Amino acid sequence: MKIFLDTADLSIIKHYADWGIVDGVTTNPSLVAKEGVDFETRVKEICEVIPGPVSAEVLSTEKDDMIAEARKIAKWAPNVYVKLPMTPDGLRALHVIAQEGIKTNVTLIFSPAQAVLAAKAGATLVSPFIGRLDDIGQDGMEIIDDIVSIFTTYAFETEVLAASIRTSQHVLTAMRLGADIATIPPKLLDQLAAHPLTDKGLAAFLADWEKAQQK
Ligand code: E4P
Repeated sequence: MKIFLDTADLSIIKHYADWGIVDGVTTNPSLVAKEGVDFETRVKEICEVIPGPVSAEVLSTEKDDMIAEARKIAKWAPNVYVKLPMTPDGLRALHVIAQEGIKTNVTLIFSPAQAVLAAKAGATLVSPFIGRLDDIGQDGMEIIDDIVSIFTTYAFETEVLAASIRTSQHVLTAMRLGADIATIPPKLLDQLAAHPLTDKGLAAFLADWEKAQQK
């Protein structure tokens, strides 16, 4: 199971890079806009810090414009994955650029049917959004379960990237269900790494050690 960071904040990415657990990064237009930086520059910077897949999303919505933009983005770094929205134009663009060998991540997936269409059109990754489905009262995890099972049945090579993750439980359930990747908001990584009994246990070990030194 791969772990990606869901952020365009370079200092945060650098902060976690040396934990040895960051396999890639996902960005989206909202995350990049929040940083107030040049899109291309930031994606190139992230690609230098993290050697794994770094998703960068097209802003065009028409097939031909998406293709042109995707070809440009794909040249920014060898580890760039072009993110395309799950729309009919997105599929048409995907069908063309996938055949050119451009790695892709089809985003804004909210149903197993959308994931299957994206996989058939040649997506390298599909990103079902868990949290946003939970937000509208649907169990986001159900579509992860369905997509993983359908992709296994039909031996699709497309990987399932669990996105829009909000809680540690989302991460664990995605792992249990067999998602290939979970993209995680950075603050969740701290929560995943921490346990009160770890802190308590360490404090007790060190206190016992200190006591023994004083004897
Ligand atoms: C994934 O690639 C998206 O950037 C992200 O997971 C969206 O998450 P959100 O629903 O918390 O905005």
